Amino acid sequence: MKRKTIRTGIVGAGFAARFHFECINRVAGAAIEIEGVYAIDAEQAASYAKERDIRCYDSLEKLVDKVDVIHVCTPPVVHEQIAVAALKKDKFAIVEKPLTGYFGDGSEDFNGDTFPKQQALDQALASVKRMLQAEKKSKGKILYAENWVYAPSIQKERQIIEKTGAQILWMRGEEAHSGSHAATYGFWKFSGGGSMIGKGCHPLTGALYLKRVEGISRNGSPIRPKAVSARTHALTRLKTFQDKGHIRADYHDIEDFSVMHVVFDDGTIADIFASDIILGGVHNWLEVAANNHRTFCNINPNTAMQTYNPVDDYFKDIYVVEKTGTKQGWSNPSPDEDWFTGYPQEMEAFYRTIAYGEPVESSSSLAADCISTIYSAYVSAEKKGAEVPIKDQC
Ligand SMILES: NC(=O)c1ccc[n+]([C@@H]2O[C@H](COP(=O)([O-])OP(=O)(O)OC[C@H]3O[C@@H](n4cnc5c(N)ncnc54)[C@H](O)[C@@H]3O)[C@@H](O)[C@H]2O)c1
Repeated sequence: MKRKTIRTGIVGAGFAARFHFECINRVAGAAIEIEGVYAIDAEQAASYAKERDIRCYDSLEKLVDKVDVIHVCTPPVVHEQIAVAALKKDKFAIVEKPLTGYFGDGSEDFNGDTFPKQQALDQALASVKRMLQAEKKSKGKILYAENWVYAPSIQKERQIIEKTGAQILWMRGEEAHSGSHAATYGFWKFSGGGSMIGKGCHPLTGALYLKRVEGISRNGSPIRPKAVSARTHALTRLKTFQDKGHIRADYHDIEDFSVMHVVFDDGTIADIFASDIILGGVHNWLEVAANNHRTFCNINPNTAMQTYNPVDDYFKDIYVVEKTGTKQGWSNPSPDEDWFTGYPQEMEAFYRTIAYGEPVESSSSLAADCISTIYSAYVSAEKKGAEVPIKDQC
């Protein structure tokens, strides 16, 4: 196949921008030229650019003008603004999760614990709508960077569902660890919520994706989420919490535990947990209970490698797995953590869409269902778990 060169730009120079850069360099199906980076933190952007031998831009507009695609690796509060700027110039936008959200009313005393959650749902849906409209008018597309869709275990499950005509009856899944690294995480006005949006979006989108796959393969149309019930809790902010220093505990106005019960339009269900209180490394998994099989997609940890290390210090230069507290004793080092997580497969797929027009698995419509479900879940949590219908945004 003739390889076309795609010019690309990265917005943001933090954690996500680092793994995006590495995974762009692993893409085999398209030739890519990384034009440069732009981030609001100019110093961070300059050192990111220097380390990677790329240009550092002093404005988003200048970078957008030079490229075919923009990687949106910034906090969610500015995803809409950056993606729309790219789409308006007919460029593609690879947008990190969550697609968008509600980040408060801008007032000094805005508090994520107390504001009416219907406001968050309405405003988040309005943001989604603006993004979908910008995409509709553009020659570019939104490519939603939900790596769970591309994780090899989820893609293998996709094959089982498609080839066996399976009906998924129940899914349960979780994303959890001991607390996000980002300084802005913890404030609703930057993150758009707590663990339910920040972490729950991953297993939820994995589940939403597999029900879409099932519906399309058996009946030609996706099965979509219809209603949700949810609870949220701020466990590390309880007066009774006894802090032993292993779990991040400085959140301002967000939850650190959530559970969503999703009902799909065919009556089947999914239960999604997300939290910031789990020790022992990142815990990412999705179980599928179908009418003809049962699967555990173990993204992290998994048993691809198991190591016993008697002394923590022996492994001081060994990366074991994200957010592991100790390297002593038995552990499950991930021989290629990015691969199990789906990051390189996601980039490969996106660049094949950009270069050759291949269909997008993790589309703006899937991202829209995720946002609609989660902000409906916040409304439900405010009502202590009452069922809330999910609006179709597409
Ligand atoms: N898919 C995953 O597994 C995964 C993992 C981590 C983070 N993320 C997502 O990636 C995104 C970024 O998170 P992060 O952890 O890299 O954050 P970070 O704080 O490490 O980095 C954010 C970067 O964005 C820049 N920035 C902030 N506002 C900007 C603006 N208006 N214009 C340009 N640059 C701006 C900052 O200067 C910084 O360089 C978030 O949406 C997060 O949810 C996804």
